[in-house]
Amino acid sequence: MDEVVKMTNISKSFGGVQVLYDVNFDVRAGEVHALLGENGAGKSVLMKTLMGVHRPDSGDYVISGKKVRFNNPTEAQRNRVSMVYQEFGLVKYLTVAENIFMGRLPSRRGMIRWGYTRQRAAEVLKSLGSDIPPATVVGDLKVADQQEVEIARALSYDPVVFVMDEPSAALSYDEIGHLYELVNTLRDQGVAIVYITHKLNEVFDIANRCTVIRDGHIEGTYDISELDLSMLVEKMTGKQVSAQIVREDTYKKPKANIIELHGLEARERDKEIYSGVNLRVGKGEIVGVAGQIGAGKTELGKTIFGALPKTFTIKGEMIFDGEGIDLKKLSPSSAKKMGIGFVTEDRQAEGIVAEQSVLFNTILPAFHRVTRGFVIIGRMARDLVRGVIKDVALRPPEPNRLVKFLSGGNQQKVVIGKWLAAESRLLILDEPTRGVDVGAREEIYEVIRQQVREKGLGVLLLSSDLREIMIAANRILVMRLGKITHELLPHQTSERQLLHFVLGEEAEAEAEAKAEAKESKKK
Ligand SMILES: Nc1ncnc2c1ncn2[C@@H]1O[C@H](COP(=O)(O)OP(=O)(O)OP(=O)(O)O)[C@@H](O)[C@H]1O
Ligand SMILES: [Mg+2]
Repeated sequence: MDEVVKMTNISKSFGGVQVLYDVNFDVRAGEVHALLGENGAGKSVLMKTLMGVHRPDSGDYVISGKKVRFNNPTEAQRNRVSMVYQEFGLVKYLTVAENIFMGRLPSRRGMIRWGYTRQRAAEVLKSLGSDIPPATVVGDLKVADQQEVEIARALSYDPVVFVMDEPSAALSYDEIGHLYELVNTLRDQGVAIVYITHKLNEVFDIANRCTVIRDGHIEGTYDISELDLSMLVEKMTGKQVSAQIVREDTYKKPKANIIELHGLEARERDKEIYSGVNLRVGKGEIVGVAGQIGAGKTELGKTIFGALPKTFTIKGEMIFDGEGIDLKKLSPSSAKKMGIGFVTEDRQAEGIVAEQSVLFNTILPAFHRVTRGFVIIGRMARDLVRGVIKDVALRPPEPNRLVKFLSGGNQQKVVIGKWLAAESRLLILDEPTRGVDVGAREEIYEVIRQQVREKGLGVLLLSSDLREIMIAANRILVMRLGKITHELLPHQTSERQLLHFVLGEEAEAEAEAKAEAKESKKK
C-alpha cells in the first residue's frame, strides 16, 4: 500500500526538555491509523510538527513521495494536509460559516460572497451529518456542535492527509456515529487518516493500524488484528494491567444527604431543558448521572452551582445540607461558599486560566486555605499544589509550568485537581476525564473515592462515558431528554444494559437483563 506520509527521525524539545526522540511514523492511503499514548506522550506535538505549528529540531517529512517541511498550518492546508486540533481554535463571536472559511472567504471583485460562503459551509457540515445552521454565532453553540464545526473546517481543505486529535471526545453517540461514517467515507476515498483517541474501544471500531508512543519514543506499530484491549493498555503504560477493576458490590445507604432536589425544572424561554428531577446525593456517596451529551446533565449541574444564564427559568426545590436554598439568588460565588465545586466540561471557557501556572490555577478555588487575611502564604500554597499534582498524576509535575504548555489531558487534570484542593462538600463533575488517559483516570477516581470515604464528600458525576459511570458511581441515575428515567446500582446492571437505557431502548435493556440473569444462574 502507498505511504502517503512518512516521517523519519523526528526530534523535538521545548526549552531544553526533549519530548520527541527520533520518531518514525507513516500513514498509508486509505487507512485509519490510530496514534495512541498516555497524556503527555507526545501525540499532539508530533502531529503539530507535521502541520508546521511547531518546528522540529530534526527529522524528515515526505508526503506523497515529496520531501516537505511546512512552516505554518496554512502551508500544510494548501498542500491538503489538515488537522482537527484537540484544543478548539474557533472565534466565538464569528459565525459558523466565517469560522470554517476564516482567512479565505470566497470573494468576487473584492466582495465577499456571503450567500455562497454559507451554502459551501452547509455542504461541508452536511457531509458530516450535521445540520448546524451556518449563520449561527459559534459562541452560542454547545461544545459538541463546536467540535463538529472544527471538523468541518479541517475537512473543507479537501485533505489527502487528515489528522484528528481526539475528535470524538465531546460528541454524543449519534454524533460519533456520523463521525465514523465520515471517517469511513474518507478512507474509501483514499485519504490517509491519523486518529488520536483515549477511548480505546474506538480503535477497534475504526482503525486499521495503530502506533503507540510512550514518553516521546515510538513503542511500536501494529495491525489492529494483532491486538486486544489489555495488550494495548500494556503497550501504552508499560505496565501489566490489573485483571479486574475493584468495585464494591454492596450498596450502603448514606446516613445523611448533602443535597436534595425536588421537582426541579429548567426552561430556556419556551424550551424545556429538564423537568421533574428528583435527586439526592448522600454524604460520602458518588451518584452517577448517565446520559447522552445534550440530555440536560450539564444544565442540571450548572443549576446546582448557580451558573445557568439568566435566560433560564428554574422551578423546584433545592435543599443543601438540610437547608432550603433560594435558587433565584444562587450564584457560583455563593455556591462555592457553601462548599459546592464544579468541574466543567468546557475547560477552555470556564475551567482554567491557560496563561497562568499550575500553582495559580490550583489555589484559585482553595484561596481560603492558603491565605491569612489577605496574605497568601507561599509555603502553604506550594504544599497544597504539590499534593494535588501527586493526586492527579500531573505530568510534568511542575507547579510553575504555564497551563497552556501542558498536554490536553494534563490540562484536564489541573481542572479536577483545583477542585479537589478546594475540599468541597459537594463536587459536581461534568465529563471529568474527557481526554484523560486510562491510567491517570484510575488514579483520579481513586483520589475522589478517598475524599468520599474519608471526608464524606458527596459527588454528582455527570457523564456520557458509561464505563466511567459503572466504575466510579455508587448509584446510577439515567437521564434522557431532560428526565430522570431510571435508578440503578452498578453491581446489578451491565454497561450494555445501561447503554440501552441511555438511548431509550427499553425492550433491549430488558432483554439484556434477562440474558444476564440466565448467565449468572448458569454460573
Ligand atoms: N508549547 C509547548 N511548550 C512546552 N512544552 C510543551 C508544549 N506543548 C507540549 N509540551 C509538552 O510536550 C509533551 C508532549 O505533549 P503532547 O501535547 O504532545 O501530549 P499528548 O500525547 O498529546 O497528550 P494528551 O493525551 O494529554 O493530549 C508534554 O510534556 C507537554 O507538557
Ligand atoms: Mg494531545
